[in-house]
Amino acid sequence: MDLKNKAVFITGGSSGIGLACAQYAAARGSSVAIFARDGKRLTGALADIGKCRVAPDQKFNAYQLDVSHNADVEIVMELAVKETGDPFILINSAGLGGAFHFAELPYKRFDDTMKINVYGIRNTIAALLPFMKKAGGHIVNVSSMGGFIGVFGYTAYSASKFAVVGFSECLRAELKSLNINVSVLCPPDTDTPMMQTQGRARPKETIAIAGNAGLKTAEYVAAAMYKGLEKQSFAIIPGLSGKLIYLIKRLFPALPEALMDRTIRKVQQKSG
Ligand SMILES: NC(=O)c1ccc[n+]([C@@H]2O[C@H](COP(=O)([O-])OP(=O)(O)OC[C@H]3O[C@@H](n4cnc5c(N)ncnc54)[C@H](OP(=O)(O)O)[C@@H]3O)[C@@H](O)[C@H]2O)c1
Repeated sequence: MDLKNKAVFITGGSSGIGLACAQYAAARGSSVAIFARDGKRLTGALADIGKCRVAPDQKFNAYQLDVSHNADVEIVMELAVKETGDPFILINSAGLGGAFHFAELPYKRFDDTMKINVYGIRNTIAALLPFMKKAGGHIVNVSSMGGFIGVFGYTAYSASKFAVVGFSECLRAELKSLNINVSVLCPPDTDTPMMQTQGRARPKETIAIAGNAGLKTAEYVAAAMYKGLEKQSFAIIPGLSGKLIYLIKRLFPALPEALMDRTIRKVQQKSG
């Protein structure tokens, strides 16, 4: 995929998978706009993206924004287009993770998860579609393997990520005629600040299930994403084990459930 002289907009571009996607595009000649809430992290990320510059006319801009606040999204995206150009690629990577027993999941956490992971994506696409319509392009909504398989502890997270897949499937059909390709990225567990802070706080059943999978790097996930975009894939699943789980879930849905149930039983028996 030729990324030279293109504008790439990335929510959650100050950290983890979003930042790796930003650096990948910058190293291939794109202008990049990143969006997140924490100004200090944005400044640091912008400096890291700047180090990947390959041409003097590339623009790198950072915007403080909470994607769940629709009115702010409209204003900030308009400014970002003025300063960075019409986006050729929009990557919606901003997200809130976390695993909890449902009985211990506060209403606010459920609400925030939906507002950021689902409404956030809706908001940025609605704001940028008028600009993307002009020349076509790509929209990537970051879901998760938890967006096609329900795992112990992820009632809020998986619900939001399943919603992202459904939303994207509908949008893909609608935007095809505008030459805008819509994909979902479904990464496996990836070594990012989100995983480092929330990974250890997960219920032990969730940790045991994830324990069989292994961690990818954000750079690996970003490279797989751009490869998937080039092929215009809808579901982009980095790594062989993720692809296998996706296939097995589709063809034999009872199998992964039985395996997870067995792991959960073992953990619960061990802890009495
Ligand atoms: N890491 C994994 O194992 C994994 C696996 C599957 C899917 N994912 C998904 O991948 C995406 C990126 O996650 P990551 O692991 O790279 O996490 P991360 O390193 O914590 O990055 C999350 C990014 O989203 C931003 N963000 C969070 N809430 C936001 C909001 N309301 N408005 C704007 N920006 C917001 C954060 O910045 P601020 O906090 O400063 O706003 C940060 O830039 C998420 O959608 C996540 O669900 C991650």
